Amino acid sequence: MRICMIGTGYVGLVSGACFADFGHDVTCVDKVPEKIEGLLAGRMPIWEPGLEALVKHNAANGRLKFTTNLAEGIAGADAVFIAVGTPARRGDGHADLSFVYAAAAEIAGALTGPAVIVTKSTVPVGTGDEISRILKENGAPEGTTVASNPEFLREGAAIRDFKIPDRIVVGAEDERAREVLREVYRPLFLNKAPILFTGRRTAELIKYAANAFLATKISFINEVADLCEAVGADVQEVSRGIGLDNRIGPKFLHAGPGYGGSCFPKDTLALLQTAELNGVPMRIVSSVVEVNDARKSAMADRVRDELGGALDGKRIGVLGLTFKPNTDDMRDAPSLALIKRLQEGGASVVAFDPVGREQAEPMLPGVTFAADAYAVAAEADALVLVTEWDEFRALDLKRLAASMKGRQLIDLRNVYDPEDAERAGLSYRGVGRGEQRG
Ligand code: UDX
Repeated sequence: MRICMIGTGYVGLVSGACFADFGHDVTCVDKVPEKIEGLLAGRMPIWEPGLEALVKHNAANGRLKFTTNLAEGIAGADAVFIAVGTPARRGDGHADLSFVYAAAAEIAGALTGPAVIVTKSTVPVGTGDEISRILKENGAPEGTTVASNPEFLREGAAIRDFKIPDRIVVGAEDERAREVLREVYRPLFLNKAPILFTGRRTAELIKYAANAFLATKISFINEVADLCEAVGADVQEVSRGIGLDNRIGPKFLHAGPGYGGSCFPKDTLALLQTAELNGVPMRIVSSVVEVNDARKSAMADRVRDELGGALDGKRIGVLGLTFKPNTDDMRDAPSLALIKRLQEGGASVVAFDPVGREQAEPMLPGVTFAADAYAVAAEADALVLVTEWDEFRALDLKRLAASMKGRQLIDLRNVYDPEDAERAGLSYRGVGRGEQRG
């Protein structure tokens, strides 16, 4: 199959490289010349484990090409994937579709024969219909159709998620589109990956419903964590106790500082917009967003409380800045809200992140960046573990304690055993780990 991938962001680049690795002939198109030049020289615009090797391997064998020229990328393509950004529109949270629609108009003009146009970008219900209209209006060849094929890639595990997916969702209104996408994904369902064919609007909604549901699990367990602290229970055991019920499942029940990243915050807001536009209240999703926003700021209060009620003049060390490990992505990272509030309270912040510094530094004015976790701890009144990078999982707690000025370890990911930390001389506070009483 000849595939054209429009957009070399997270989704486009990972999907394009994986399709090429399956043996398809893939051309990735991006408007930003520096990105294409970088990719041609083997430089990745994002940090994702395994991606560089995959891109270089497939570029070297000629199955993966890069260009800024859309017409060149599209020539002879059976399927054209749209994987451009859909950021939340400033003000109302609605997904900004201007890049998607602009791509559709350009595709229409560049096609030389009928193709299946596939949205991979997360787009609100009904976007496929609008793309269809734009294609027609701009003279796309007869027989060109539109399908929806949402991605379910987690940053940091994107290649694995692409190659061993829980499911593939294809929303299409015609047999030709289903046929082409069946062929595109054939290497995967030889591995028995379930492929689900639905209507286009249904596929668009599946993506939002999946992310909103996962976000719901997180906000739910975060509220349970607060209750655990109040009643003297342990949220990790509660998660295990409920997660072993097959109907609930063990995943996405880790209490923490709230969800961040490029998807959950944006997609929950966009789903609420769609619901409102259609006059359907979605009270649960609305509460999930509210709980998460409140949670992010509550984490600074937790640090303040551990420091006896005042942040002024304190030196606080922050371990981990990205919204989760194995990515350099800082979008909506809980560390941003936390650090801002700590600084507003008069604290000075020293931080370290194994990969995220370059992205983080411009977003965090006033923060001092240290070379490693131990340098963060030096002379700190408190240490806050925000992102559970592997390298923070086995720190020498005694060494940390010895170099700190204070004793507080606030572990927002429950990485450490409270007793180990106390034994090392630290005063430990996790999340949802209430004191056992009686
Ligand atoms: C998510 C979806 O998982 C993926 O399917 C979708 O396509 C894109 O959005 P991603 O944003 O990369 O992927 O990260 P994910 O691993 O889902 O984590 C999202 C956020 O939730 C992170 O901030 C993470 O720390 C938080 N989280 C996750 C928790 O706080 N607790 C959990 O139990 C799980």
